[in-house]
Amino acid sequence: MTLLEAVDVTVRFGGVTAVRGASLDAAAGHVTGLIGPNGAGKTTLFNVITGLQRPTRGTVRFSNEDITRRATHERARRGIARTFQRLEAFGSLSVRENVLVAAEIHRRHALRRSRHHQTPALVADRLIERVGLDRYADRPADTVPTGIARLLELARALALDPQLLLLDEPSSGLSTAETESFGELLRELAGEGRAVLIVEHDMELIMRVCDRVNVLNFGTVIASGTPTEVRADADVRHAYLGTAE
Ligand SMILES: Nc1ncnc2c1ncn2[C@@H]1O[C@H](COP(=O)(O)OP(=O)(O)OP(=O)(O)O)[C@@H](O)[C@H]1O
Ligand SMILES: [Mg+2]
Repeated sequence: MTLLEAVDVTVRFGGVTAVRGASLDAAAGHVTGLIGPNGAGKTTLFNVITGLQRPTRGTVRFSNEDITRRATHERARRGIARTFQRLEAFGSLSVRENVLVAAEIHRRHALRRSRHHQTPALVADRLIERVGLDRYADRPADTVPTGIARLLELARALALDPQLLLLDEPSSGLSTAETESFGELLRELAGEGRAVLIVEHDMELIMRVCDRVNVLNFGTVIASGTPTEVRADADVRHAYLGTAE
């Protein structure tokens, strides 16, 4: 089932067209990839989907509702959560406290659809274990390695029990083994019926975990399909994979 539809989205910053008539879907139960060279417009498109950037043109639909004009917090309340390419955790709080803050906020908004009936502290501890942060739980967030801080971002996003999860380069800074279990976690999250939309430069991860992949180049979607289809696409090889491999 299609949960998110971005339709014909254009974003102009003065003379720069960062996104140019881009359309993409994300389905519940699927991991959808968004790849493309640096500056292709991936983060800008994420910002449009989450409401941080108003598009010059185009529509964002979520659960069949036009949310193009909705504020970020209204989208969050509908079940959209994200992580940031640049880290946004509270540095002086511990890893556990950071997740707890998110769990408390979620609890306060007490969504009826929420599957969590545990205390915020329990929710936080379960999430910390789930994303593999146990060893770092008591460390101040600004003292953990970058890859670990990204997992913290993920745990905070999951504390909101999102239907749609947007991840902007979540695996950078992770070791090979950590990336492996991170990929498995993404499949599990999709298996729970969530839609996962991931921007990532790690092609091996993208090809392994995604059901569908969209390729953005100079703000335009130049290919969409299964990982196998996208990998075989001549335009993609030329624009992206050819230069990356
Ligand atoms: N707030 C802004 N004002 C002006 N230009 C911007 C702004 N944000 C992004 N851009 C420009 O828009 C284009 C797309 O940037 P964006 O950050 O979306 O790319 P990206 O695909 O996420 O790249 P990366 O892989 O490096 O993260 C770039 O040319 C960038 O310089
Ligand atoms: Mg980016």
